[in-house]
Amino acid sequence: MENLLADINRLRQERRAVILAHTYQSPEVQDIADFVGDSYGLSVKAAQIADADVIVFCGVQFMAETAAILNPGRQVLMPDPEAGCPMADMITADQLRQFKAEHPGAPTVCYVNSTAEVKAESDVCCTSSNAVKIVQSLGDVPEILFVPDQYLGRFVERQLGRRLVLWEGFCPTHYTLGPETIRKMKRLHPDAKVMVHPETRPETQDAADFILSTGQMVDLAKTTPYRQFLVGTEEGILHTLRKAAPHIEFIPASDFLRCPNMKKTTLAKIKTCLETRQTRITVPAEIAAKAKIAIDKMLQISAAK
Ligand code: 13P
Ligand code: SF4
Repeated sequence: MENLLADINRLRQERRAVILAHTYQSPEVQDIADFVGDSYGLSVKAAQIADADVIVFCGVQFMAETAAILNPGRQVLMPDPEAGCPMADMITADQLRQFKAEHPGAPTVCYVNSTAEVKAESDVCCTSSNAVKIVQSLGDVPEILFVPDQYLGRFVERQLGRRLVLWEGFCPTHYTLGPETIRKMKRLHPDAKVMVHPETRPETQDAADFILSTGQMVDLAKTTPYRQFLVGTEEGILHTLRKAAPHIEFIPASDFLRCPNMKKTTLAKIKTCLETRQTRITVPAEIAAKAKIAIDKMLQISAAK
């Protein structure tokens, strides 16, 4: 392990590489990263990188694609290019074109958990931390299409008190967490507050005290007076939360919140990726240019007061 860390540290300098990791990555991958964040934080970071030739993206494909779209002059590498997101694959660009044809004139909001082709067909992107603000920015239009996560879409509907036209995608990992599990865990830990991700089902969200993106969970942990939380999102975030707030006890809300794709990245694969400069993630220029419009619009709306 020590040799592996030393090799990665040497190679990242030789390659002028920055390592970005999502909060769902394993603890050792988070610990070696230059920046750990949620999908929004990683998009912002990717847009701001100034002094690196290479970005090693420890996450899933759509995140590395977003980094590549925002950094056309840099090599964006994934340690394991097989790390996909099943939710992102639940809608194709052809399906979205058909969906749009059925709702002429309606703007399309796509969750960042989508392919570059789907982003290229959308008006604006969102992440779980800014979805409400992005949808709200579209004003009082009769119809808004929201793809691919129906549960994040339902969360936005409830927050804004308006209907959206939802695509029926979902995250298979978050789907496993039901309200009965939360109620059982609350009986075992009666003092604990419950935080869940908006990718969970509405009935699961109803059983929680806080519905937060992963970045918002970390922010809450740093300021909350509560001392015990049940955490209803992918288990990788337990490491991030415990580092951010060591005085708080964070307990996984279930044993099944493990995204197999997020766990495909390992330190050994990071080393090989830096050595071989494989696998490079690229997006065809025409798709990247269109997708960038939707991503830039999200960054601009999200940054506005
Ligand atoms: P956030 O990073 O926006 O909380 O999203 C979680 C997720 O599922 C990423 O795949
Ligand atoms: Fe996709 Fe869910 Fe894994 Fe996130 S946790 S990458 S939404 S499958």
